Amino acid sequence: MLKVLFQPLNPPRLPPADSFLNQTVLVTGSNTGLGRETVRHVLSLGASNIIMGVRSVSKGEKARDDVLSSLSNASEKTVEVWELDMSNFQSVMAFAQRVKEYVKDKGRRLDIAIMNAGLAKLGWNVSADNWEMQIQVNGLSTALLSLELLPILVQQSSSKMGKKLQGKQSKPRLMIVASDSHQAALVPQRTAPNILAALNDKTQWEQAQAKNPIERYAVSKLFSQWINIELSKLVPVDPVTGELSVVVTSATPGFCASELMRDGAPWIFRLMAALFARKPEVGSKAIVDAAARDDGHGKWFENQKLTEPGNIVSSSEGKALREKAWKEIIEILKQVDPELKLSY
Ligand SMILES: NC(=O)c1ccc[n+]([C@@H]2O[C@H](COP(=O)([O-])OP(=O)(O)OC[C@H]3O[C@@H](n4cnc5c(N)ncnc54)[C@H](OP(=O)(O)O)[C@@H]3O)[C@@H](O)[C@H]2O)c1
Repeated sequence: MLKVLFQPLNPPRLPPADSFLNQTVLVTGSNTGLGRETVRHVLSLGASNIIMGVRSVSKGEKARDDVLSSLSNASEKTVEVWELDMSNFQSVMAFAQRVKEYVKDKGRRLDIAIMNAGLAKLGWNVSADNWEMQIQVNGLSTALLSLELLPILVQQSSSKMGKKLQGKQSKPRLMIVASDSHQAALVPQRTAPNILAALNDKTQWEQAQAKNPIERYAVSKLFSQWINIELSKLVPVDPVTGELSVVVTSATPGFCASELMRDGAPWIFRLMAALFARKPEVGSKAIVDAAARDDGHGKWFENQKLTEPGNIVSSSEGKALREKAWKEIIEILKQVDPELKLSY
């Protein structure tokens, strides 16, 4: 938490002005906060098409109007607002299917997918699929949507148009909005026979929260690290050039004053937010920068620098935890989509 004090010394910078030239960028959770500002930035950096994945279409349309009204060339942009409720696997699947149909149309592409939607809750809430809400939204549904979109991005990279674009620009990317709060995760459930079942047990949740009030959010952002690492391992390389077909990466926007704490937060977080947090317009620059870079495959950016994610991810115990949890995650997601693509 102390590093928040130094945030003003490291204001994030945007990537070059043509970073997203003529690209199609998908941003989840983009009706407010960091997601909305990410949309604004990528449009100003040349993106021509945006897909906003939002839980409430009316809120999304309001955000779209707000973003477009701030651009001088709004008439050249196409911004679509699509429904996506990450607390419901069927909604995630319907959204992914819509993207699959979208890219079938001539001239339509998906260049960059930014997995930004997320929430932070102090209380126990259960999703439509009977998972604790943060585990489902920040964890399982983010993993599901990322896995569903990866084949599309891989396919885009090998398409004729993709190759042409790559000559001038970067390759397709999947960017996961992470948080350094994953380093605070204690995960006492790590020794349970089934980690996901233990995470979904209210009594165990109560015990863990009593030790660490942000434990569940931290664990849910540990999922972001796992998704990044595990998806990066799936990405195929071009057999001739040895180049990756897609860059999978993650970054933290830093501590930002968004709507994330709308359901309450420990007083120290509210105080720190009032004093030191970045505005979403500022923090989102770090998201946009990571989404434009080629050097972070399977890695994590903090303050726009490649950073060690910490013991809970990098230690041998952390790796064993990830491997066990990932197997369980895949078992759950395979029940949602038996056709889930897990090798290329
Ligand atoms: N703020 C920070 O300090 C900070 C730091 C590190 C990482 N992050 C991460 O940054 C991302 C964006 O957060 P933010 O700070 O911009 O918070 P925010 O202002 O609360 O925005 C969160 C976005 O996620 C959406 N969302 C929540 N639940 C959803 C669901 N079930 N289905 C679809 N969308 C859903 C929200 O939609 P509704 O408005 O409809 O709820 C909203 O658009 C999150 O992943 C967060 O963990 C934030």
